[in-house]
Formats: sequence, C-alpha cells, structure tokens
Amino acid sequence: MIDVINRVFFTYFYKDLKHTFSGVMGKDIHKSVFDEGTLTKLSILREYLKSWFPVFLKDQKHYWERIQIYDFFAGEGFDIAGTQGSPIIFLEELRKYCTTIKERNLKVDLVFNEFKTNKYDKLNLSVQKFLSECRLSGNCPCNDSKECPFNFNTENKDFKVLFNELYPEMKRTSKMPRFMFLDQNGIKFINRDIFSKLISLERTDFLFLISSSFAKRFAEMPEFMEYLKVSRQEFESSKPYDCHRVILKYYKSLLPPDKNYNLAPFSIRKPNNGNIYGLIFGSNSPFGLEKFLTTAWKLDQNTGEANFNIDNDQIIQGNISLFPEDNVIKKVELFKNSIIESLKETPRTNKEVYLFTLESGFIPPHTLEILKALQRTNHIIVEPVFGSEKIKRGSFFLQYKPKKEVLLRYE
Ligand SMILES: C[S@@+](CC[C@H](N)C(=O)[O-])C[C@H]1O[C@@H](n2cnc3c(N)ncnc32)[C@H](O)[C@@H]1O
Repeated sequence: MIDVINRVFFTYFYKDLKHTFSGVMGKDIHKSVFDEGTLTKLSILREYLKSWFPVFLKDQKHYWERIQIYDFFAGEGFDIAGTQGSPIIFLEELRKYCTTIKERNLKVDLVFNEFKTNKYDKLNLSVQKFLSECRLSGNCPCNDSKECPFNFNTENKDFKVLFNELYPEMKRTSKMPRFMFLDQNGIKFINRDIFSKLISLERTDFLFLISSSFAKRFAEMPEFMEYLKVSRQEFESSKPYDCHRVILKYYKSLLPPDKNYNLAPFSIRKPNNGNIYGLIFGSNSPFGLEKFLTTAWKLDQNTGEANFNIDNDQIIQGNISLFPEDNVIKKVELFKNSIIESLKETPRTNKEVYLFTLESGFIPPHTLEILKALQRTNHIIVEPVFGSEKIKRGSFFLQYKPKKEVLLRYE
C-alpha cells in the first residue's frame, strides 16, 4: 500500500522530485534565512575545519607543499540575512593561518563550484568582497595580492562533470592533503562511482550531505535505485529516527572488504517538517575520524551524532524513571558494556582500544572514564608491551600516535 501511495505521490509530483533527485531544484536555501538544521550543518563544517587546518598547516613535520580545498556545491556565500555560507566559512577559518602558510611557503588551492549561474555570480561577488576586506584589514601579511598564498578558482559546472575532470590529477597526486565539502540537495550526487573515487584518495577527508528521509520514502523505486541501492527492508527494520544510520550502513557496505576506511554520520532533523538529513564524514585516517567525532560530540553531548534525541532516551526528555536502568543514555551504556566485553574476551593493546573507541562512534575521553572506573575497582591491569616499566595509574595512552604501547588486561 505504501508503495502505491509513494508511486502516486511520485508520479504526481514527479517534476519537482526529479529536480530534487538531480539536485537542481531542491529548496533554495539562499532565498531565506538559514534554518536551524542548516546552521547545525555549517557549524559542524566550521568546527571540523578548526581542527583540520592546524593538522595540515601547522604540523611541524609536513611532507606536502600544497593543500587543496573543494566546496563543490558552494551556493552564494551568504543567506539573505548575511549569515555566512560554506565558502565564506572556509575563507574565514583559513585566513587565521595566512602568516603560518606564508612562513612555511605552503600553497592553498581553493575551488568553489556553483552550477546555477545567478548564484555563481553572487558567489564571485561574495568572495571578492571578502578578499578585498581581508587585504585591507591590517592582518594581511602580503604586500600585494600577488603574494597571497591562496589560489582561488571559482567554477560554474555540474558537479559530476567537474569532479570527473579533476579526478585523474587528484588520483595522480593522491597523497596531497585535501578536504571536500559536498553539500548537495537531495541524494543523487554521491553515487557508487563518486563514492569509490572519494575513498580512493589517500589523504582526502570529505563531508557530504544527504537527504535521508527522502531516501527512506523512495527506497526501491527504480528512478531512485539508479542513485542509491538501499532496500525498503533496511529502513523498515530500523527505528523511525534511524534512517541516516541506514544510509551510513549502505555506504559502509560499498567499502572494499580489505579497506580500512573511516566513516561517521551526523543526523540533522529539520525544524519545520521533521525531515532528517545527515552528514557523512569520510577519512582514510583514524585521526581524521577522531577530529570529526570530537566536533560531533561537542554538538551532541548525549550520542555525538544528532541534533535531536535520536535514541529516544528518557533522561534527555526529562522523564526521570523510577527504574535506574532507564535513566541512562542507551548508546553510552552499550558502549561501556562493549568495551568491557571486548577486554574480557582477550587483552587488547592501547592502539586496538583507541580504534575500537572511534569505530563505535566514541572518542578517547569516553573510554578513559570507563577504564579509570575499572582501574578503581582493580578490574584492569596495564602492562607495557616492551620492557617491564611500571605504568602510572590512570595512563592508558589512547592517542593516534601514543608515546607508549601498552596491553590492557581485564581481571
Ligand atoms: C545546499 S546548497 C549549498 C549551500 C552552501 N554550501 C552554503 O553553505 O551556502 C546546494 C547548492 O548546489 C547547487 N547545485 C545544484 N545542482 C548542482 C550541480 N549539478 N552541480 C553543482 N552545484 C549544484 C545549488 O544551486 C545550491 O546552491
């Protein structure tokens, strides 16, 4: 029955939906003030950049001379109230590093793409205005614009055309640090082919948006399957708010079995219609994933993955139950149990525990708290992997590049 209703709905509104699939005519977010969902998305972008830029621009040991930033669906630069959109956020966060970039003789390439010509024109004006104000601001370390370490390129192309034009060179220079923001309308652009190209780039982190409610509604319709092959069953067997988790699972299923790749979700519920959109973050590096999850946990201190109560936790809704087991955040409790079970199964190195933490969508401070509690009740022993040095209580070395290798044993 639902299929029939969707089919009728689809046929009736086919024109609009076709556009939404194609990403050309989704709601024009620049014609009004950005809503709460868009602001959440943009604040995740900004916070992630705050942690990504220092890694690639300030790290003492770097083996690259150039980094590249792509905003493939850049929009106009601002909403009608002057709130910054993604391209201006990139510029604003980057300008903090102008002096460092110059001192280190680095180059930063920025590619801002927008398909609609009227928006593209506005984008150019927004970028030019930002740059001229930036140069006059007194903080600019360059004597004239030719010395600017940024190389700007605005493009007015269909995403797929542009990406496929750029890809061979990206692949050839796959070790170059890159960050890509793919803020599509709808669901169409990050298909199997583009996804496999994105994950093939060794030092590229990306963040893309997808309309997960939309994917749920039209799962298994032939027009839809062309872009995203998620079965209706996958959505139906999950909880109502889990549609973006289902989408994440789908992209995970596209990873080659021998590839250790890191993906993480963030679900965003739109305030006006309750539709769920979501971000998918991807990186070849666990350190990239740690940075993204740290950003996500700053925004959502209960599950680290949504701008709403995704697991319907009682405690967040303020319904304190008489049964203490109800007064917990389910995801946190499950994680605590899974860490303990995994240590009970066999001793684990700090590196394994660090990776397990991230794969479970948590960050080292969560695990540290659990391990410290286990140590207080003498349930955990920490030994060095090499030598016989005594390890200080409370030290578990849960970092990407830890100073020591230790073994955690449950007793
Ligand atoms: C969600 S908006 C992006 C908003 C932007 N990131 C911001 O913060 O303001 C999606 C943008 O993609 C553009 N677009 C639509 N189809 C496109 C295509 N085929 N290739 C590139 N851009 C496209 C739209 O015109 C729209 O401006």
